[in-house]
Amino acid sequence: RLGLKTSKLGSMIQYLDTIDSTQKVAHQLAQEGCPEGTIVVAEEQTNGRGRLTRHWHSPKFTGIWMSIVLRPKLPPFKAPQFTLITAVAVVQAIEQLCDLQPEIKWPNDILIKGKKVTGILTELQADSDKIHSIIIGIGINVNQTREDFPEELHSVATSIAIENGGKLSRSILIQQILANLEKYYQIYLEKGFAPLKLLWESYAISIGKDIIARTVNEVIAGKAIGISDEGVLKIQDKNGVIHDIYSADIEVGK
Ligand code: BTN
Repeated sequence: RLGLKTSKLGSMIQYLDTIDSTQKVAHQLAQEGCPEGTIVVAEEQTNGRGRLTRHWHSPKFTGIWMSIVLRPKLPPFKAPQFTLITAVAVVQAIEQLCDLQPEIKWPNDILIKGKKVTGILTELQADSDKIHSIIIGIGINVNQTREDFPEELHSVATSIAIENGGKLSRSILIQQILANLEKYYQIYLEKGFAPLKLLWESYAISIGKDIIARTVNEVIAGKAIGISDEGVLKIQDKNGVIHDIYSADIEVGK
């Protein structure tokens, strides 16, 4: 139905009208042993989930609300890399189809002109040493008008249509994202994260800038100097000390 050009991604497609969360459905399918590359797409989510238990606004017919199940044979600490690879696949798909230059804000936000168009939520079913399934949730604001966003999101969120000055076919965007992701997943399995890390850094707004990282325990201010081979953000504070940031909210300065 989506006219996919991929072989692995989309090998099984669960298409839903209204659902609480595609992420929840994908978790269930993964547990039941669905094939690798299974995707769950919905027209609307009534309880879309964001990072850190936030709500993800997912109105009907306007966005891409999708979850993808992968089964790489890897230890769980590699999982954050999948957020980064997915971000590259989505940024490039938007670039390929629109006259826009989206940027990545570590770890999982894609921004256009400083406002969020995409969030990525990577979750795991794993033992301490082995991933069983990785569930990548992608939420993209595609065709919302400004009025479709709740008032409190106006200063922080936008859609591709608002920035591109016109609507974009969601199924074409899904095709392109899955084609890119399949290609990068293959590169990753063959060559590891290094080639993709360079690509990711070329789209990242935070690298080389002064940032403030708010983790659950502390606030660290300094210059974002890059990401490690594992996808961990490295911040150098004013004393020259380098901090490894695994999970945080980032505020980017000049
Ligand atoms: C974030 O930026 O906090 C991540 C948002 C992820 C939203 C997507 S929409 C499809 C999938 N299903 C969910 O419930 N959440 C993810």
